[in-house]
Amino acid sequence: MAPHITVVMQTFRASGGPFSEFQKGLPLPRSRQFERARAQLVGTVNRIVQKRRARQEDRGDLLSTLLFAQESEGGGMSDGLVRDEVMTFFLAGHETTANALAWTWYLLSQNLEVEAKLHGEIDSVLAGRLPSAGDIPRLHYTVMAFSEAIRL
Ligand code: HEM
Repeated sequence: MAPHITVVMQTFRASGGPFSEFQKGLPLPRSRQFERARAQLVGTVNRIVQKRRARQEDRGDLLSTLLFAQESEGGGMSDGLVRDEVMTFFLAGHETTANALAWTWYLLSQNLEVEAKLHGEIDSVLAGRLPSAGDIPRLHYTVMAFSEAIRL
């Protein structure tokens, strides 16, 4: 999905231009490329949603939360609505996270004492295993360093 998201993000940036509304209706290479990328992303997300809907199992993740959500008046979310939510998470969570991590690694490379302290905390808290969300409260210094990178 990464190359398609890249195309969509590039078009998103260009969509702030003064003639973007006018250009949207024209068969320009950029619009066609965008439509192709959009169709690929929608197709992939639709397949995932339909597969998970058919299985009816709650895997305790974000997609299960959406699929099992019930409106207060009763009734769940349609596949189209779930697809749009998933697409928003993808687009809002992809480049932001990549940028935040890239800047964090860069800033750590410029602050070697901080990098050493952060590695020390990760080594002692995780002791070689992969992290899970439950480790975050104990990764106090790591969270501070990441927050500072985002602040800068
Ligand atoms: C370090 C990573 C991230 C940064 C820096 C970031 C930053 C932002 C910012 C600045 C906004 C706009 C807030 C506003 O204008 O009111 C926003 C909104 C949003 N972000 Fe993120 N974000 C990150 C990660 C994510 C991830 C991982 C997801 C989803 C999986 C996500 C989903 C959203 C959504 C859905 C909104 C819109 C919220 C609304 O309805 O107003 N973001 N984010």
